[in-house]
Amino acid sequence: MFRVSPIEHLEGEISFPGDKSISHRMVILSSLAEGDSYAENFLISDDSLRTIEAFRKMGIEIREERNRLRITGRGLNGLKPPSEPLYMGGSGTSARLILGVLAGQKFRAVLSGDASLSRRPMRRVTLPLREMGAKIEGPADADFLPLTIEGSDLKPIEYKMPVASAQVKSAILLAGLYAWGETKVIEPMISRDHTERLLKLFGGEVKKDGLTNTISGRQRLKGIELCIPGDISSAANFIVLALLVKKSRLLIQRVGLNPTRTGILNVLKRMGARIEVVIKGGEDTEPYGDIEVRNSSLKGTLIEREEIPRLIDELPLLMVCGCFADGVTWIEGGGELRVKETDRINSMVTNLRRLGAEIEVEGDKVVIKGGSLLRGNRVSSFSDHRTAMSMLVIGSLIPGETILDEVNCINKSFPEFFSILTKIANR
Ligand code: S3P
Repeated sequence: MFRVSPIEHLEGEISFPGDKSISHRMVILSSLAEGDSYAENFLISDDSLRTIEAFRKMGIEIREERNRLRITGRGLNGLKPPSEPLYMGGSGTSARLILGVLAGQKFRAVLSGDASLSRRPMRRVTLPLREMGAKIEGPADADFLPLTIEGSDLKPIEYKMPVASAQVKSAILLAGLYAWGETKVIEPMISRDHTERLLKLFGGEVKKDGLTNTISGRQRLKGIELCIPGDISSAANFIVLALLVKKSRLLIQRVGLNPTRTGILNVLKRMGARIEVVIKGGEDTEPYGDIEVRNSSLKGTLIEREEIPRLIDELPLLMVCGCFADGVTWIEGGGELRVKETDRINSMVTNLRRLGAEIEVEGDKVVIKGGSLLRGNRVSSFSDHRTAMSMLVIGSLIPGETILDEVNCINKSFPEFFSILTKIANR
């Protein structure tokens, strides 16, 4: 159990551990590249460690050296058959992206995960990968882990994705590296483009034409050096705190500002947030810069379906903001939240109601009426890191004591959460 009380004041300059999505992709692409790659500010968390472990089991040397990770790639065809199942823990990104890589290998591998990951849908990737020629077996016609996958010579496909998911897009692009010819992935909406950007950095080529991404197979990738920008999804917790705690000012340095990830900043600005963003570099690779946040009065807004992929992981925090905004906040098209580590519409709505919020759900639409009188109460993480952090944020904003059942799940993405909070918050 973890008890939270209100914060009186928040001030400071902080930076964040590396972006989770980029950290996973650095391990994957470095392993498939030729030669050494170096990742500075790599995120060490439960999820990213699952990706590291999986590639170590496939014969890749990955070492921590002087505050950076060195990954010695063995080329596209250099992976070795793992002698035991590749355990993905609770990491959906590891599982889905690694399936894309395994689809192109000449060996058979088994992918397993914890109870939560074993309930999350995998058919969204196994279906197109089967279409490319991979043999995949598993529960419910390969919709759930554990999965056995045996790669082959893949054939290129043109795939129109039914859901907006960067994980699905990335899995197909990675498999496309092994196909003979051009693979096309068409997204319904723009989602995070880290795989495409990094592939280019590694010397590969992905053509983008609107929502269509084209990759040709059998490209050679070369090792790179990258300083991974801070994780904007982790920073978002502190952005929201600084906005809503009186007299606060926070400077966040060297945080990722990839436009496919900054949807939360656009929405918050629309709500009246005093946020200043300065891009400092990385325009051709992964953009990063500084964000200055001052406490602000927020007003309700409409978050539209098209915006969702650019802020999917920040929706729990935006629901928290909605509770403090003047007027109503609508979130449309949040259905993908139901297949995260937990059903995040259910976890957030249940918790926020316990704290006194007025919040309604209609299918994949959430409507929050701001300005209710909130008070601390018992809430649950639902074993989900983002629900847990959102509860710690709101618990720091409202009178009374908020008691969260557990906080271990936060290690999935952001083990430094508490040390950063202690550094900048006065209770
Ligand atoms: C991620 C994509 C998103 C996101 C997840 C990380 C990625 O999932 O929620 O935390 O690194 O590609 P979907 O692609 O399923 O939307």
